Amino acid sequence: MTQDELKKAAALAALQDVVEDSIVGVGTGSTVNHFIDGLAGMRDRIRGAISSSEASSQRLAAHGIPLFSLDDIEEIPVYVDGADEIDDGFCMIKGGGGALTREKIVAAVSQRFICICDASKKVATLGRFPLPVEVVPMARAHVARELARLGGSPRLREGFITDNGNLIIDVHGLSIKDPVAMETALNQIVGVVTNGLFARRGADVLLLAAATGVERQVRS
Ligand code: 5RP
Repeated sequence: MTQDELKKAAALAALQDVVEDSIVGVGTGSTVNHFIDGLAGMRDRIRGAISSSEASSQRLAAHGIPLFSLDDIEEIPVYVDGADEIDDGFCMIKGGGGALTREKIVAAVSQRFICICDASKKVATLGRFPLPVEVVPMARAHVARELARLGGSPRLREGFITDNGNLIIDVHGLSIKDPVAMETALNQIVGVVTNGLFARRGADVLLLAAATGVERQVRS
């Protein structure tokens, strides 16, 4: 199976977690695109979706799935999203697609985070994938210096502007032994909007696709 076929298998497995007649939280990325296409087949059984990016909103709208604003909702039962890396404790690096801030916001109002991944995303220690950090443009040089102080090699994502009008700095060369502490430390840097560590609010369920099938793991 190709990596994209594995992504699709994980995404379609998540359809069984969708709560009937609810508003579904929808992440961003190539794995989630398969989930959105699958959700279209059951759009009469859900009220609609809360989206984490302009790209996902466009795809949902093209399928005729109603979009809701977070101003209309206090809580949603399920959020489905991919990851760039996920560890044994279900802490993740996210933001390869640059949607980390809205993803973290939708995850924060969700009762359950369902992570959909192909098996290549499972790691023992987070950090091989460069950690995305969304930054207010005027703070870019300051934030880069602070990120270097934490032991990483910051690189501006050239030509990329987030849906919120900010920049992304990708931090290379980190080996993240304590994801909660690192997420907290990054949150303290003035000018950082969001960092791509999802440790304080990690995934609750992992649907991990390998050639042998989709394994369902629940956080203990
Ligand atoms: C986007 C994300 C994605 O979930 C992550 O980059 C995985 O993407 P893909 O499903 O394309 O491998 O965090 O900001």
